[in-house]
Amino acid sequence: MARARTVFFCQHCGQESPKWLGRCPGCGEWNSFVEEKVAPAVTAGIGDRKARTPGERPIPLNEVEGADAPRLPTGLTELDRVLGGGLVPGSLALVGGDPGIGKSTLLLQLSQAIAERVGTALYVSGEESARQIRLRGDRLGAAAPRLLVLAETDLQAIEEQVDAVKPTLVVVDSIQTIYHPDLTSAPGSVGQVRECAARLLRLAKATGTAVVLVGHVTKESAIAGPRILEHLVDAVLYFEGDRHQSYRILRAVKNRFGSTNELGLFEMREQGLVEVPNASQAFLAERPTGVAGSVVVASLEGTRPILVEVQALVTPTVFGMARRTATGIDYNRVLLLLAVLEKRCGLALGSQDAYLKVAGGARVDEPALDLGVAVALASSFREVPTDPRTVVIGEVGLAGEVRSVGQLDRRIAEASRLGFARCVVPRGSVEAWRRAGGRADLEVVGVATVEEGLQAALQGLQP
Ligand code: TYD
Ligand code: MG
Repeated sequence: MARARTVFFCQHCGQESPKWLGRCPGCGEWNSFVEEKVAPAVTAGIGDRKARTPGERPIPLNEVEGADAPRLPTGLTELDRVLGGGLVPGSLALVGGDPGIGKSTLLLQLSQAIAERVGTALYVSGEESARQIRLRGDRLGAAAPRLLVLAETDLQAIEEQVDAVKPTLVVVDSIQTIYHPDLTSAPGSVGQVRECAARLLRLAKATGTAVVLVGHVTKESAIAGPRILEHLVDAVLYFEGDRHQSYRILRAVKNRFGSTNELGLFEMREQGLVEVPNASQAFLAERPTGVAGSVVVASLEGTRPILVEVQALVTPTVFGMARRTATGIDYNRVLLLLAVLEKRCGLALGSQDAYLKVAGGARVDEPALDLGVAVALASSFREVPTDPRTVVIGEVGLAGEVRSVGQLDRRIAEASRLGFARCVVPRGSVEAWRRAGGRADLEVVGVATVEEGLQAALQGLQP
């Protein structure tokens, strides 16, 4: 029998080393190496035999069947959208998010939906007892007879149960609590997480079961454990949101079966997560009108246009250094736009504090928001309210020019659907849009510079 080998792993990034190191050469973290035993028999891959089907020879690509992977509709449209049309049998997905954000709730609801419509769902929890899951399930109305729960942390026992039950979906909550008995390192260590995830991947591929893992995130908001977890799985979803607000956003950062940048919106209620199909309406619900510094912008998340309110507050600096903060939007982008406004539009913002915020706890990051942010800053600085029925769209360049944005038609259509009367958009895009036969039942104003954008969006602004 081969001797068990010990290796040192960086608990931060998964870097391997034969000896202990004070500082990880991979990620620069100090004192992060921990010795772990690696059992050679396990790393060599038990179960490989079983996974190997006789027909695995190279075949011409165009003879491979199933260009469209079959999907299991989850019944939760927002989740389906993020997954690219439903769960894929035999796939492995990873859901990350801060503690208490609602990962377990979401996945129990997913298990319930699958158990109700498709087949057996097995919800494995290493964190809660079956009783606790039952209590949660009662709140969510999860009572499908095919929804099975298992409070277990031993991977071999889980594999045995999967073999016995043959579920359509397996949820493992969370991968950091699961351990394989052949490895002596503690659950949650790099060796364990890596090995357990790899075995679950083989299990998914071999049996055609869809497997969803919950992953805890570190304080830097990356999924804890080795980076390879993200490379290994087919999809990485992040569940995020402000814990003090009820909206939760599910985002795909990797998806082998669909587009990333897709976004699903949920609201955490007393009876669990409720889908919010109308994202724009939710984010605009409490918008003040006639107040300086508030602008509605149209952001595109994947294929989905979302209107959000950007708020700016510009006040004279009390102490020497001007303060700038940005919530829900890239800080450096705000600094850039302040510089453009100062240099190209002659606004003396150098001695002003500027606070920027995307209302409703949304996080948006797209160049098409630039013009809206610039308008919000100028509006607050000049104390001139924006027209509440105008949506502002456009990327801003360093020369103060307004540059084209993609998919203008979708953004305009969303603005029109929500009853806005005007869109201020880049002149370049509006020409292309018109040529492509675009028309809308609202006024579309094309602008070429930030200066023109301010003129168009601010009420009664004197040139
Ligand atoms: P949970 O799914 O346990 O979070 P995670 O698994 O990501 O740590 O969700 C925890 C929070 O959600 C908890 O603070 C209570 C809240 N919650 C509701 O508001 N309504 C509900 O129906 C449920 C089940 C939870
Ligand atoms: Mg949980």
